[in-house]
Amino acid sequence: MRSAGLIERYRAWLPVDDATPVVTLGEGSTPLLRAPRLGARLGVDLWLKYEGMNPTGSFKDRGMTMALSKAAQDGAKAVICASTGNTSASAAAYSARAGIRCVVVIPGGKVALGKLAQAQVAGAVVVQIDGSFDDALRLVRIMSEEHPITLVNNLNPYRLEGQKTAAWEILDDLGHVPEWMCLPVGNGGNITAYWRGFREAHERGDCDRLPRMLGAQAEGSAAMVRGVDVERPETIATAIRIGAPVRREEAGAAARDSGGGFAAASDREILDWFGHAVRDEGVFCEPSSAASLAGLANARRDGLVPEGAEVVCVLTGHGLKDPDNAIAESAPPVTIPAERSALEAVVLGDGT
Ligand code: F0G
Repeated sequence: MRSAGLIERYRAWLPVDDATPVVTLGEGSTPLLRAPRLGARLGVDLWLKYEGMNPTGSFKDRGMTMALSKAAQDGAKAVICASTGNTSASAAAYSARAGIRCVVVIPGGKVALGKLAQAQVAGAVVVQIDGSFDDALRLVRIMSEEHPITLVNNLNPYRLEGQKTAAWEILDDLGHVPEWMCLPVGNGGNITAYWRGFREAHERGDCDRLPRMLGAQAEGSAAMVRGVDVERPETIATAIRIGAPVRREEAGAAARDSGGGFAAASDREILDWFGHAVRDEGVFCEPSSAASLAGLANARRDGLVPEGAEVVCVLTGHGLKDPDNAIAESAPPVTIPAERSALEAVVLGDGT
C-alpha cells in the first residue's frame, strides 16, 4: 500500500477527484512504534509516530502530495513557500515530481544542513533572507497574492487536508484513540491537522472519543505557551524557530477544546530527549521533533499529563536532517592505527 501514497489510501475522504493528477512519492503509512524504555523514563505508555520515514524525511510530505496534486490540477506553473527547512525540502521534491518550478525562501544561516541540501539538489530556487521565518512568510504571501504563483505553506488549505491523514493511520494501527497526542508546534498547522483528522473520524463513527492534544514548543519561540508572539525567536530547534504562528487560533482551539494544552522546553532539555530517543529506542529524529518528548516530560512534571497515560508522540522529522547538532551531541569516533592490537584494545575494553 505504501508506494501508492496517502491520496490513494484515503481518497474517499480527501478533496480530490478523478481528474486530479496524483503527485506522490509514496508518503504516509509511517511506523507507529511502541517505546517501552523511553516510556518508562517519562512514566507513560508511549508510542512514537515516526514521521521521519516519509520520502523527504518529514511529515511535510503528507501536505505536499495534496498541495502539488491540486496545483498541477489547477495548471500552476510555479509554487513558492517560506520555510525553516522541511517544507522547502518537501516542496522542492514534489515540485520536481510534478514538473513545476519551485521557489523557497529561508532564514539565512538557520536551516539545518540536510534540509538545505535537499532543496538545492532538487533544483528549487533557494533564496536566503537576512531575517526570520516570519519575515520570509510575509514576503512569499505578497508574491503569491500579486503573481500567478501558488503558495504551498500551510495557509494552502490542501496542506492540512493531507496532514490530517496521520491521525487516521494512528487509529488504524492502534485500533483506538490514544488518551494523549503530543507534537512539536511551530506555526500550529500540524496540531490543527491532527485534531481535524480525529474529529472527522469521530464524526464518521470510526472512534468513540477524542484525544487530548498537547503542543510542545521551544522556550525561545514559545508563542503559544506565552499567548503572545515572540519578536526574536531563538532556539537550536530551528524547524520550530517561529515567533508568529499563522495557525495560532486553530492550534489554540485544538489544545483547549480537547482538554490538552501547551508545554515549553529549553534547548538543553530538547537535546537531552533527542539523545534519549535514539539511545533508548534507536529512533533518530531531528532535535525539533524531540521537542515533543521534552515538552511531554515537562507536562508530566507539571501534572498536566498523568502517570501511565497512553501517549502518541509525533516525531516529525528524521535525524539525518540535522547532522551538525547530531555530531555535536555525540562522542567522536575512536581513532586508532590500522592495527589488530589497537582495535583489540578498543574492542576488549581497555583502549577507550
Ligand atoms: N517539526 C518539524 C520537524 C517541522 O519542520 C515543523 C515545521 C514542525 C514540527 C512544526 O509544525 O509549523 O505545523 O506547527 N516546519 C515548517 C517548515 C515551519 O518550514 O519546515 P507546524
